Amino acid sequence: MKTTTTLSLLLTALLPCVSCLSSREKPMEEVIREALADAEAKSLRMAAKYADAEGVLPRSFAHGEMQTSDSRWWCSGFFPGLLWYLYENDPKPELLSYARLYTGRVEAEQYNTGTHDLGFMLLCSFGNGYRLTSDTLYRRVLLTGAASLLKRFHPAVGLIRSWDNTNGGLWDYAVIIDNMMNLELLFRAWRESGEEHFRDLAVAHADKTLEEHFREDFSSWHVVSYDTLSGEAQRKQTHQGFSDASAWARGQAWGLYGYTMAYRETGHERYLTQALGIARFLLSHPNMPADYIPYWDFNAPDIPHALRDASSAAIMCSALIELSGYVEGELRETFRRVAETQLRRLASPDYTARQGENGDFILMHSVGHLPGNSEVDVPLTYADYYFVESLTRYKYLMLDTM
Ligand code: GLY
Repeated sequence: MKTTTTLSLLLTALLPCVSCLSSREKPMEEVIREALADAEAKSLRMAAKYADAEGVLPRSFAHGEMQTSDSRWWCSGFFPGLLWYLYENDPKPELLSYARLYTGRVEAEQYNTGTHDLGFMLLCSFGNGYRLTSDTLYRRVLLTGAASLLKRFHPAVGLIRSWDNTNGGLWDYAVIIDNMMNLELLFRAWRESGEEHFRDLAVAHADKTLEEHFREDFSSWHVVSYDTLSGEAQRKQTHQGFSDASAWARGQAWGLYGYTMAYRETGHERYLTQALGIARFLLSHPNMPADYIPYWDFNAPDIPHALRDASSAAIMCSALIELSGYVEGELRETFRRVAETQLRRLASPDYTARQGENGDFILMHSVGHLPGNSEVDVPLTYADYYFVESLTRYKYLMLDTM
């Protein structure tokens, strides 16, 4: 494929510098074993701390204080999901029972039609739980949740609505790039039930997002607002990024992960091309640091002093590991080496907190919403979730290639 060849040439140039970062370091097997053991110890302490606090889910840790949420917060599924990954890596009864306990706390969200975040909430928790236990109750929750999510699909627009918030009347129908992630719940529901509308509407959403959300260089806007009568895009803006024209790092990571997943689920080449284009934008960007932990926004005005965002790195890392399985040769090697660099860096003391600190979260230094001055340079459950997912994916990759 032409795109793949061009990308291969472009990205191969990065290889020598990526390799030299890791040549004198410990074997990846050890990095992964130690990082998973660290994650398990912290997460077991976290799980024990809130086991009797009904409905409580960890969220972040700031100014020496724990921040928690109930199930309605968009991040409610990440801690249960993290426990499922840890159980997958170390099938201890204690991890299983905590994974079940915290998953149960998110159950009510299957009926929530007021958010697009049901994929995050339910697939990380119930989806991983169902994958690992085949519990039919979990399957039911996933199918109900997927049906609730589809209630937010507007036929004239051809997209699932992300936010009901109109930003003071500016947005008729706001769709954010993050929404690509929630499509995985629909694909799962299609595979489980055989009902094709789950798949068809997910494809419709991915196609229109591909048309409207991306600039020529494959970077994406955060928010696109549509006219509900004509279905046309009206405004392209940011909410959590530096500016409307900037590339907010987590948005780029959601896009990369979203189109990689959409390719896996459908086999449509256009989604692979899109994921590869996003990867090229990210890996060849002049503001991408050598350790591949992005600044919170690629156009932050104070680079190189801008804050890094561990959550973007973790999401991107997980996506690159998967994407490396869909390409060959140098490109595959490049994606794996970048992911390896990110894992080593996230697992280092610069990003992994010491035991007993950081409120028992695994990683430090994520940025939630900088312009809103919310969750800035703090631990976040989704950074931890995608970090442990990446460790798990990389471990399977090593087992496959041994
Ligand atoms: N979906 C919200 C975020 O990425 O911050």
